[in-house]
Amino acid sequence: MKKLLYIAVICLLAVAFGTLPDDEVYVPVPKNWPKPAYDFSGNPITKEKILLGRALFYDPLLSADGSVSCASCHSPYNAFTHTDHKVSHGIYDRIGTRNAPALQNLAWSTTFMWDGAVHHLDAQALAPIHNKDEMDETITHVVQKLNASQLYRGAFYRAYGDSIVTGTQVLKVMSQFMLTLVSQNAKYDKVMRSEQVFTESETKGYELFKQHCASCHKEPLFTNNGFENNGLQPDSIYKDGGRIKVTHREKDSLLFKVPSLRNVAVTYPYMHDGRFANLQMVLFHYTNGIYKSTTLSPRLKKPIVLSENDKRNLISFLKTLTDESFLHNKDNAYPKDFFTER
Ligand code: HEC
Ligand code: HEC
Repeated sequence: MKKLLYIAVICLLAVAFGTLPDDEVYVPVPKNWPKPAYDFSGNPITKEKILLGRALFYDPLLSADGSVSCASCHSPYNAFTHTDHKVSHGIYDRIGTRNAPALQNLAWSTTFMWDGAVHHLDAQALAPIHNKDEMDETITHVVQKLNASQLYRGAFYRAYGDSIVTGTQVLKVMSQFMLTLVSQNAKYDKVMRSEQVFTESETKGYELFKQHCASCHKEPLFTNNGFENNGLQPDSIYKDGGRIKVTHREKDSLLFKVPSLRNVAVTYPYMHDGRFANLQMVLFHYTNGIYKSTTLSPRLKKPIVLSENDKRNLISFLKTLTDESFLHNKDNAYPKDFFTER
């Protein structure tokens, strides 16, 4: 009898704290964060689906010649960006026009791509799959290849109870994996949770950050999800107008999505075209390089003045945004077992 009571209590506790496997929280929402923008009711998260999305993310089967996977350009150890190249390198050594952004906290994003061309995460994978310079494939052909694979048919059966793979399922499971990429455990977060303290230099850097940067790179996600012109000299190679490509409005010329600065120390090179190799160059841009075009953000019209010491402090603060537990989370890495165990 006593034993039964113990079991009942343990079960109740498990339900209350959400630790039963079915209630497992795959996309944690930290306490002081806004609500995610992604509507999970249209794509209920399960363990099998996440694993499937993760396998697809790392599988070069998604490209025309089986040479390029999503992870070729989005590497887990750099917060899912590509540090070897200024702009992306895809299939047949073709070169794109933009720098691969980090993939993290995507459940909170309202638009995707540097110009916001994609409005829903579930549509995102279509872009690289169909892009001639990236994967040069079609979703229809990807689905055919998956239906011809015993491994994937089995996995889709476990996930959906049906072994016929559809394009919608492919896109939804890929979203599920990407939604689980939550970075919320950097030193910054630990300081906010009163588990650690900033050094003197980091504290000074944080003050400077709040003063000069946080209006666009807004805490706690370090982006305001908006589009801004941060004063980059227009590039002469790609002639990338940014947001205007989507809206065709003159006032959006040279506006780009404000990127999150979480894990920024490892997501170099910086900006939509990877023009700056390191954070020193980025700060030099904000203090000395602002290009005054008609659409320059009003927030950057007044020059930002930083001493060498200020810059060091600001960089110390930016480094507190590096989340080692995210970068080295084995649940985000290549799922070796998926490909070998069955
Ligand atoms: C050849 C390199 C390359 C490959 C392969 C690639 N990407 Fe990307 N990814 C990029 C680049 C470059 C951008 C930014 C493009 C733009 O802004 O126009 C991007 C943007 C994104 C974004 C938007 C992020 C944001 O915050 O705006 C997501 C999500 C994404 N990719 C997921 C994927 C997935 C899923 C795959 C595989 C199906 C994939 N990528 C394959 C280079 C690549
Ligand atoms: C007016 C809004 C605004 C302000 C203020 C601002 N930024 Fe930015 N920041 C942006 C935009 C927009 C981009 C992307 C621009 C692009 O690539 O074309 C960006 C890009 C960056 C990047 C590159 C990130 C990456 O992944 O490529 C870093 C680093 C950065 N900003 C740091 C800072 C710092 C530090 C400050 C304060 C000194 C600051 N920003 C102030 C809007 C702003």
